Amino acid sequence: MKPLKVALLGCGTVGSAVLRLLHEQAEDLAARIGRPVQVAGVAVRRPDHHPDVPAELLTTDAEALVTRDDVDLVVEVIGGIEPARTLLMAAFEAGKSVVSANKALLADDGVALHAAAAKAGVDLYYEAAVAGAIPLLRPLRESLAGDQLRRVVGIVNGTTNYILSRMAETGAGFAEALAEATELGYAEADPTADVDGFDAAAKAAILASLAFHTPVTADDVHREGISEVTATDVARAAEIGCTVKLLAICERVGRAGNGGDGDTVAVRVHPAMIPTSHPLASVGGAFNAVFVEAEAAGQLMFYGQGAGGEPTASAVLGDLVAVARNRLAGAAGPGTTGYAGLAVRPMAATPTRYHISLDVADKPGVLAAVAAEFATHGVSISTVRQDGHGDAATLVIVTHSAPDAALAATVAALRGMDIVRAVTSVLRVEGLQ
Ligand code: HSE
Repeated sequence: MKPLKVALLGCGTVGSAVLRLLHEQAEDLAARIGRPVQVAGVAVRRPDHHPDVPAELLTTDAEALVTRDDVDLVVEVIGGIEPARTLLMAAFEAGKSVVSANKALLADDGVALHAAAAKAGVDLYYEAAVAGAIPLLRPLRESLAGDQLRRVVGIVNGTTNYILSRMAETGAGFAEALAEATELGYAEADPTADVDGFDAAAKAAILASLAFHTPVTADDVHREGISEVTATDVARAAEIGCTVKLLAICERVGRAGNGGDGDTVAVRVHPAMIPTSHPLASVGGAFNAVFVEAEAAGQLMFYGQGAGGEPTASAVLGDLVAVARNRLAGAAGPGTTGYAGLAVRPMAATPTRYHISLDVADKPGVLAAVAAEFATHGVSISTVRQDGHGDAATLVIVTHSAPDAALAATVAALRGMDIVRAVTSVLRVEGLQ
């Protein structure tokens, strides 16, 4: 039987795991697809860095490889925007289906890429781009296609989850936990993309686009990282039965109902306190998990390894089998739809809740003055707790839901009050009753 030929773009940790699994599972893959799969070539920047790959497969000319007549499918695991975008566009134009693990590219230019794939009648699959091995995009795109999604809340970055988990376990500050994560290989030498939330924001954009049938790019995502999370924040969270997680939150906000004119999507990445009883709270170490709330299905949870060569390669190969089957059937699988076209709600107008901890003096009128500042900004208080007395009192306040701008303005005003010695902790709260 004539094999299906695959061009592999990139041969780093994920690419080499893809190559190895393609080889080791060749018979099973052939049986599952209905044809053998053969690697046509592997595009890399430095062929001499890949002694394990047969030399005749290696090439530095990725564009020539993806447009070769004998290539049927392209697997892109080089990451980044360029040259990946140009190569994918060239592949579509040449009629090849693509499997990609490239979250940055999909979050930046997903609409144009999907349009190019649709025009060519080929597939663009990218399960590995979000949460590594976890089957998530296909469930959103296919299994839940008959439902209405309300919220998708995820821990989609393993590095930051490892750091926050260690802070909770050991009482360490951010810098100390990051140093440990770097030493153990959980954090990159340059951890910016993970720690500052860029990685999670790209994934959030992809999840929101699929969940709400609305084009969302990384630029639409409000992004805050974890470098400002302190040991005090983590301790305060524990005091109210919560834990701190970096969350990617994609939600449909607005008028109740399905597709009402007033509905918008709000997409944000920031650290937040969540109750320890929440399913996401028990996701420790470098694991990822995504919690989905749908009108009919109710609550769903997806959990697993979000990074690493083999787990990511598993998702790549799953997509490869799917696009290969489609190819043999002479069909393209379901693409993404942006038909809902919901507006993206700015963070300032997105409803959130805050946990705020203040050092104040325990004197008559202090609580009234602090409460008045919340009222001035239209923010309703849910709970207030006071610890200590005399000069060293601490007020811990959890608000009800209010527009994020009103909450931020309240905190700014509190910082300027004479009776407030210090605002010692401010974090958003998710999932509290
Ligand atoms: N760097 C990511 C993480 C994995 O720490 O989860 C790849 O997206």
